[in-house]
Amino acid sequence: MISVRAGIGRILIGKQLLPRTGKRCQALALSGQCALISDSNVAALFAERVKKSLSLSGFCPTLITIPAGEKSKTLEQAGAICDRMIAAGINRQSFVVGLGGGMVGDISGFVAAIYHRGIPHVQIPTTLLAMVDSSIGGKTGVDTRDGKNLIGAFHQPSLVIDDLDVLKTLPRRQFNQGFAEIIKHAIIADTKMFRIMQSWKAGAAPALQRLIKRNIQIKSRIVATDERDRTGQRALLNFGHTVGHAIERAGNYRKFLHGEAVSLGIVAACAISVKRAGLPADQRAAIVDLLARFGLPTRLPPNFPRKKIFDAVKFDKKFEGGKVRFVVTPGIGAAYVADNVMLNDICEAVAAL
Ligand SMILES: NC(=O)c1ccc[n+]([C@@H]2O[C@H](COP(=O)([O-])OP(=O)(O)OC[C@H]3O[C@@H](n4cnc5c(N)ncnc54)[C@H](O)[C@@H]3O)[C@@H](O)[C@H]2O)c1
Ligand SMILES: [Zn+2]
Repeated sequence: MISVRAGIGRILIGKQLLPRTGKRCQALALSGQCALISDSNVAALFAERVKKSLSLSGFCPTLITIPAGEKSKTLEQAGAICDRMIAAGINRQSFVVGLGGGMVGDISGFVAAIYHRGIPHVQIPTTLLAMVDSSIGGKTGVDTRDGKNLIGAFHQPSLVIDDLDVLKTLPRRQFNQGFAEIIKHAIIADTKMFRIMQSWKAGAAPALQRLIKRNIQIKSRIVATDERDRTGQRALLNFGHTVGHAIERAGNYRKFLHGEAVSLGIVAACAISVKRAGLPADQRAAIVDLLARFGLPTRLPPNFPRKKIFDAVKFDKKFEGGKVRFVVTPGIGAAYVADNVMLNDICEAVAAL
């Protein structure tokens, strides 16, 4: 097992960690009751193991299971969870354990942030995306009818437990989408990680433990410079996300998984970076090649409604004098927020996808 410091808490990465959850919570001086929040798919697979470990260490866990899927990430659902916690007698000294992917991580973290004005949050991410991205940085929240993550709070987890064994049951598409965020991290901050990933043989199992650790370090280093997303440093993590979010929205959040849409967004951001930031064309080609090798889409289906993507970009972004703040890469391993990108550049890049 390896342990990484991130924010105020620790992240543990290794195998066979679920049965050690209770002991790890004890080490944080937590005690008494806790809410174990999970979704219907994940609870069926892992909740018993976590519950047992917590009980054996003297905790009194209440399992709260919500339906799997993004549609559960709402204010109503967060309220319903709080009501169940109150009914179970969970108090100010208690804590929340979120067991699941990014959806559970976000809503359980939000509940932990608001319950009695904030109680500790322990995250047990069960998707690759949640391990390398959503469990780091303390952003929690829910969606509303008008958009994703519009309501939320910053609340750093006290502990994150990344048990690699849980990834074995993750469907292939879900697993692959985590690589979009990993490749994004390599592009914006780590040339060496990019080269290592390029050298992996197709189909070979990657060295996940070290890879996850490296991604946690990259994201938490960037977050530490701009925890509240105010100075623009944290915005670098949005590389590929302007067009990615627009593609997700244009596909009604059904056609593409988040990581798949981000993969396409990265391809578009690279085309824009060639034009506006001097990204060498061979590096752009290497990025597209790496995304494809992890089973991620790099072209839109020919009949996909591109007009809807343009509309969604305009909905999402402020254009001043036809220009927008847009994250570009001048070369693998670096990124900055450019102010010379035009709406037309985005339209051109999407048309070419
Ligand atoms: N807070 C942040 O900084 C941040 C960053 C990125 C994404 N997010 C959020 O994360 C969410 C997406 O996360 P996600 O991709 O993990 O989605 P998810 O949590 O919806 O999980 C995807 C699917 O996989 C299932 N699943 C999870 N773990 C499994 C396992 N081990 N075995 C089998 N099935 C499993 C889930 O039940 C679900 O059906 C979005 O809500 C997004 O907004 C948050
Ligand atoms: Zn993302």
